[in-house]
Amino acid sequence: MDEFQALLQTIQRLLNVQCTSYKEDYIKRRLASRMNARHIKTYKEYQDFLLQNKDEHELLKNALTINVTKFFRDLPVFETVRAEIFQPILRQKKRLRLWSAGCSSGEEPYSYAIILHDMTTIMKDVDWSIIATDIDEVILKRAKEGIYEKSALEFVTESQLRRHFKLLDDGRYEVKPHIKEKVKFQHHDLMSGVPIARYLDIISCRNVTIYFSDKQKNDLAKMFYQGLSPGGYYVMGMSEFLGRELEGYFASFKPLQKIFIRKDEKEQ
Ligand SMILES: C[S@@+](CC[C@H](N)C(=O)[O-])C[C@H]1O[C@@H](n2cnc3c(N)ncnc32)[C@H](O)[C@@H]1O
Repeated sequence: MDEFQALLQTIQRLLNVQCTSYKEDYIKRRLASRMNARHIKTYKEYQDFLLQNKDEHELLKNALTINVTKFFRDLPVFETVRAEIFQPILRQKKRLRLWSAGCSSGEEPYSYAIILHDMTTIMKDVDWSIIATDIDEVILKRAKEGIYEKSALEFVTESQLRRHFKLLDDGRYEVKPHIKEKVKFQHHDLMSGVPIARYLDIISCRNVTIYFSDKQKNDLAKMFYQGLSPGGYYVMGMSEFLGRELEGYFASFKPLQKIFIRKDEKEQ
């Protein structure tokens, strides 16, 4: 067994992470970032380091799961967004613009696109669009390809699978063109302080801020405030929090699903 395979076995045992769910080049990139941080050159050396340093376990686990995502991750959030946000906006404004910020390999924006597509096929004169951004160029390339293992599709229904995905010869699934063409992927750094667009109806930024400091999280929320229309929605990850300093900017809309609504300028 070579050094890399031996290290994978140790990682699986110590961290309880299924390395086989990831592609090899992905794991190597993530390992390289941790090894650089520790000034370690070989897989064997890093394996010994892991065995001796428990505090490295959590850091490696975070590094490995940094891009982890799924279609319809936290399904009730998508159901709430569909019924309580998409429905009224489409009915009243006939136009909807959504930004999926920190979109990773595309499962989140494509999930929104599937919902919007199915809602609007019988509606006349409605216009919707999705911008999806990430800082990681490699992951954005995968997002644009839109090809997924079956494991990413756990919460996709049989009917959605049939209508919106094509089964490939190698057993993976590709998002069909009518969904792909509705999502525009772009590179964007959420720390840049500048929103990708203005007058947005919804910003979905979920499970992105685990490495952000409190100040960076607050600055991010203020940047989203600039990007949203008054009354627009900010959807966070289930384990993320909005600081009290942001009370002048956002009000809670659906606390259980971590959805906030942008306040008007005058309420600040
Ligand atoms: C765990 S994934 C979340 C994917 C999806 N939003 C979800 O909840 O399933 C986190 C993503 O945030 C991206 N990210 C981290 N820091 C970022 C930054 N400063 N700007 C843009 N994207 C960032 C990472 O590259 C990664 O793809």
